[in-house]
Amino acid sequence: MFAKHTRRSLLRGAAGLTAATWLPGRSHAREFKLNPAPAKVPLVGGQRPETDVWAYNELVPGPPMRVRQGDRLKVTVENGLAGETTVHFHGIRLPNAMDGVPHLTQPPIDPGGTFVYEFDLPDAGTYWYHPHVRSAEQVGRGLHGALIVEEREPIRVDRDVVWLLSDWRLLPNAQISDDFRNMHDMAHNGRVGNTVTMNGRVRESFAVRSGERIRLRLINAANARIFGLEFTGHKPKVIAYDGQPVAPHEPADGRIILGAAMRIDLILDMTGKPGERFQVVDNFYRNLEYRLLDLVYGTEQLRDKLLDSPMTLPPNTMPEPDMKTAERHEVTLNGGMMGGMMMRERGMAGMSMMEMMHTGKIWFINGVAMMGHVMDPMLTLKRERTYILAMNNETAWWHPMHLHGHAFRVMSRNGVPTRLREWQDTVLMSPREMVEIAFVADNPGDWMFHCHILEHQESGMMGVIRVT
Ligand code: C2O
Ligand code: CU
Repeated sequence: MFAKHTRRSLLRGAAGLTAATWLPGRSHAREFKLNPAPAKVPLVGGQRPETDVWAYNELVPGPPMRVRQGDRLKVTVENGLAGETTVHFHGIRLPNAMDGVPHLTQPPIDPGGTFVYEFDLPDAGTYWYHPHVRSAEQVGRGLHGALIVEEREPIRVDRDVVWLLSDWRLLPNAQISDDFRNMHDMAHNGRVGNTVTMNGRVRESFAVRSGERIRLRLINAANARIFGLEFTGHKPKVIAYDGQPVAPHEPADGRIILGAAMRIDLILDMTGKPGERFQVVDNFYRNLEYRLLDLVYGTEQLRDKLLDSPMTLPPNTMPEPDMKTAERHEVTLNGGMMGGMMMRERGMAGMSMMEMMHTGKIWFINGVAMMGHVMDPMLTLKRERTYILAMNNETAWWHPMHLHGHAFRVMSRNGVPTRLREWQDTVLMSPREMVEIAFVADNPGDWMFHCHILEHQESGMMGVIRVT
């Protein structure tokens, strides 16, 4: 008789039962252990020495967590670093106490200390985890990993693959340059490195089969680097941004733009012939184009006709913003190199380069540079109401802006409505761009709102949004 009911009606009908008696995923959590600690890994490979990193369980990236929508996740973190840390599960709409923000949502985990994160996974999608303490250095030394939440009924593909992209600034001896938080990186485009790894290695190639359909989950775990990927000879289709389903489409000019912390799920149909080889290039920064790797076709032909199965993902569970009753707030981004001048032009008290160097305050949200993780909220929102944040990037730099605990719809760019009203948790803003996002403030607590260029975050581009 259950077969006749949808899952939803079952849930309603079972209201009288205690959840633990039957809800799948409630009775036992999916458990993982994370041990952040120093390690050595062969990032570059070949004859080059191993690199000293900070890693979860001696792995870079950290152990991939693959779970299912509706599961409960339990992650025990044992801190083997010399300093404090936390783990933040980027993009997951979880209870505030599990958000991993030091001092704001939990005390930081001391060296030798332990913390247990446990929460339900309401949405499917591609997410990742990383520390939120001194993130520029901790993420930049290797602490980051993939968190994949599979749909209850996944779409049909031949392979579901994660490419987690990391960016490193390595010295000729393959060791990490320790110039974290230097003034130049902080005031410009962040710590853009010189070595990109895919799943923890510099790669030459990625083996594919003719006729194959791949779901490719791209994760940008870099401190600052923005990727602009071109899959030469292929036509990838975007099916999700930041884990959130979107109407399948080919990206404008075929380029996959991925700001720091963003994720994109692609459907990649392998339309080449056995034995062929195609480059995947990253040409985001002008004159700094490089080849990420080659797609290398094996001799096998998986099928002659490509799969023609649906690629639209089932929707996630965010409440729909009510634009008629939405309350609008302006959010202005200022600062950085050339930013003082731009602020003074607008009659604001822009800082000189000297002042920035002395105070460490380089970036501002609504005129405030937030240092550390505890501050009065920049906005206090009422639970269940819809809000529009009208964000204005009055800087000469790109900023991937991230809100914790929620996903938002990107409604417009420079006053032009977006075609897809895509859900995201990190929206990349170009210099001087205006972006409007909308969301229902349905998750109570104090949530970080910050630029995910970690050097910008640590020099002020951060705020707290309170949902009461
Ligand atoms: Cu990826 Cu504040 O987080
Ligand atoms: Cu920024």
